Amino acid sequence: MKDLKALAVVVVVVLAIYIGVEPYAHSQLHKKVAPVDYEFKDLKEVSSINSDAISGKTLFANNCSSCHSVISDNINPLMEDKDSASAYGVVPPDLSNSSFLYSKKFFVSFVKNPTLATQTQHKFVGDKIYPMPSFDWLGDDKISNIYAYLKSVEPKDISNKEAFNSACVRCHSMKYDKNFSPTPTPDMHKYMGTIPPDLSTMILAKGKSYLHEFINEPSKHLEGTAMPRVGLTKKAEDKVIAYLEEIGDPNIEDRETLGIRFILWAVLLSVVAWIWKIKIWKDVGH
Ligand code: HEC
Ligand code: HEC
Repeated sequence: MKDLKALAVVVVVVLAIYIGVEPYAHSQLHKKVAPVDYEFKDLKEVSSINSDAISGKTLFANNCSSCHSVISDNINPLMEDKDSASAYGVVPPDLSNSSFLYSKKFFVSFVKNPTLATQTQHKFVGDKIYPMPSFDWLGDDKISNIYAYLKSVEPKDISNKEAFNSACVRCHSMKYDKNFSPTPTPDMHKYMGTIPPDLSTMILAKGKSYLHEFINEPSKHLEGTAMPRVGLTKKAEDKVIAYLEEIGDPNIEDRETLGIRFILWAVLLSVVAWIWKIKIWKDVGH
């Protein structure tokens, strides 16, 4: 009976640590912040239901193609990466995957006023604020058409890596995957006032929920950070994080279940030892 009690105590203590203390310590290390908001409630709703992709293509050619490519529609960049980086501080992203990355609401708000939508901090970029001009004068109707055009040429299947490359690689590298930012480091430093970290091992350092909160709204976790809010949809953000996981922590699933497997194994071992002990003492008794 004594043995059973001892076993019970061990099991209870181990479970209490595993279930109670670890999450508590975790919640203390990572401060609680407001939940991730994929609706971008701080931005205005779009007033237009326009979706004329053909007119959108013309609008794109006239207003956007001087800086942005759309490889999925054979619209290639007009400048070499090093030239656009030195002109704008960062190589403007290819927009083939835009309608996957951004909701219509975020996209329209962004094109009307990039500084506002990305919550770009004035103190980093100085007078230029955001290197893309505001297209407020285009209005919701025309920008909705541009969105419809980009949707009409969006690739059917976007890999995790492609999502990262559309949303992050202009500033961040993933050197473990030999995936390097096209923006030269000196330009990046001049633009952001700091060098964005390589993200190869970020998943290990920060964990998934921090990354979701941070990417959705960087200033929530890093007061006054230079990183703009990229404004991703949930499905795009999931893909980006899946890529960080693939490269930075390929064994994550194994490890996440290790704790519970270890406890089960220890309990099993104790039971076997206990039964064995009873058996031996029974034999000795006879
Ligand atoms: C003068 C160059 C220039 C023009 C013209 C321009 N952009 Fe940009 N755009 C940029 C740069 C540079 C960035 C990246 C800035 C950064 O990441 O800090 C950008 C970023 C973007 C992004 C990514 C937004 C995000 O949240 O990360 C989208 C979408 C975009 N532009 C759409 C457009 C559309 C649509 C037009 C035309 C109406 C347009 N741009 C015209 C330079 C330009
Ligand atoms: C326009 C440039 C730019 C883009 C685009 C960008 N970042 Fe960043 N990012 C930065 C900068 C600059 C920092 C450093 C911030 C600081 O030190 O304040 C940073 C920091 C980070 C960090 C570190 C956070 C921390 O707590 O230390 C993570 C994680 C991150 N970025 C992820 C991403 C992901 C994922 C994407 C794409 C969805 C992305 N970033 C897009 C510029 C960018």
